[in-house]
Amino acid sequence: MENRENWGSKIGFIMAAAGSAVGLGNIWKFPYTAGSNGGGAFVIIYLVFVALIGFSVMLTEFAVGRRNNLAAVGAFKSVDKRWTFAGVLGVLSGFLIMGFYPVVGGWALAYVFKVFGGLLTAKEAIGDVFGGFITNPIQPLMWMLAYLLLNVIIVSKGISSGIEKAGKVLMPVLFAILILISVKGLTLPNAMEGVKFLFKPDFSKVTGATVLAALGQAFFSLSLGMGCMITYGSYLNKEENLAQNAAIVTAMDTGVALLAGLAMFPAMFSFGMEPAAGPGLVFVVVPSLFAEMGGAGMFFAALFFVALTVAALTSSVSLLEVVVAYLIDEKKFDRVKAVLVSASVMALMSILASLSLGGLGPTIFGKGAFDVFDLLTDKIFLAIGGMLLCIFAGWRLDKEELRAEITNEGKLQFGLFEFWYALVKYIIPVTVFLVAFSGIKSGFDSGVGGIMVLGVVIIGVFAAISKKL
Ligand code: PHE
Repeated sequence: MENRENWGSKIGFIMAAAGSAVGLGNIWKFPYTAGSNGGGAFVIIYLVFVALIGFSVMLTEFAVGRRNNLAAVGAFKSVDKRWTFAGVLGVLSGFLIMGFYPVVGGWALAYVFKVFGGLLTAKEAIGDVFGGFITNPIQPLMWMLAYLLLNVIIVSKGISSGIEKAGKVLMPVLFAILILISVKGLTLPNAMEGVKFLFKPDFSKVTGATVLAALGQAFFSLSLGMGCMITYGSYLNKEENLAQNAAIVTAMDTGVALLAGLAMFPAMFSFGMEPAAGPGLVFVVVPSLFAEMGGAGMFFAALFFVALTVAALTSSVSLLEVVVAYLIDEKKFDRVKAVLVSASVMALMSILASLSLGGLGPTIFGKGAFDVFDLLTDKIFLAIGGMLLCIFAGWRLDKEELRAEITNEGKLQFGLFEFWYALVKYIIPVTVFLVAFSGIKSGFDSGVGGIMVLGVVIIGVFAAISKKL
């Protein structure tokens, strides 16, 4: 492992890992998922999952990755061939997420330019502009491809030079803009209604589907359950404090999600929009907010979409990296070939996803490609992937080895070790199982149960053929 690439610096690693975590999941997905799941109660369940499950799984991923010095698949395989499927499942999740992520990344990129093309003067019609744009068969495809190309360029340059630099410069910019937008939103009339919606829980509306949505959102937003943090951890040097790194990344990610909520909901309530607006939320609320501001609004709106694009980029490069690292480590591809092969498949999937929003292309159980890729990963694969990792760490790996890894061979203190270990070994596997089960059950009421069951079947097939993977 002498020649394995390494992170240039500590801050570089945190920025890259936080860059992976903070992305469309926080700014695009979190607000609309919270909105369509009733607000406050969802947010509280989400926060509990993040603190107990998210942080613990992230620490496990870092530990497993650094211990074995191998990316997702190798980390499992080198310990026990029968576990290879858990790693390969992560690579599959990487492909599936990259089957829709670049579509939304492309929208963000497009909006940087649309803002200057008179979008903000459309005022009342900003929602229609968005609807018209994403259902158009051609336009979003071009932006998606441009977005994917940026990923290809960054990931082909290798780990520390490309990904790390992008993260270091652009993450702070994102924080600043979100704060600015929140302040602007909070000063609008009726803004407090939005804050209440976001933080005042009404548990009577909570169903199995809500709880699964919160769990899935926690995994998705923290980049967990698919080997991404295993891969990043494998590039981490032996002196780093894993628990501290996991805590910082978890806190940053959660902070940005809450900030995005604060940037969105007060303004929405002030404008009298529906909290359950769906995937168009950011693309409608933010331009509407800045449309109120006249000329300066255009500048800030453009800056926001630049930041959103960058946040998305630092996440999607990590997704691409999981697949690429697998091809390099396990299939002996060189980096450029690995990037080109995987990005081509992702491009084809994203084309299907983009077209499906205009009602074109194949459907499964009545859902188009965009929804299928999203549902499979967000609601099933990531949570089950995280559960498998915990079972692997808790039942297959040696407890003392994990302790040695997390405490840097006894050089560091980690007072929560026993608590963390109990969570990983017993509580997280059982919780994920129960939440997934009840989520799938209530998924049948909303017509997505079939896709979820399909996800479980795919995992079963992978496990059954694991020796061939
Ligand atoms: N966490 C990223 C986001 O919030 C998405 C992601 C998921 C990235 C899984 C890597 C792995 O946008």
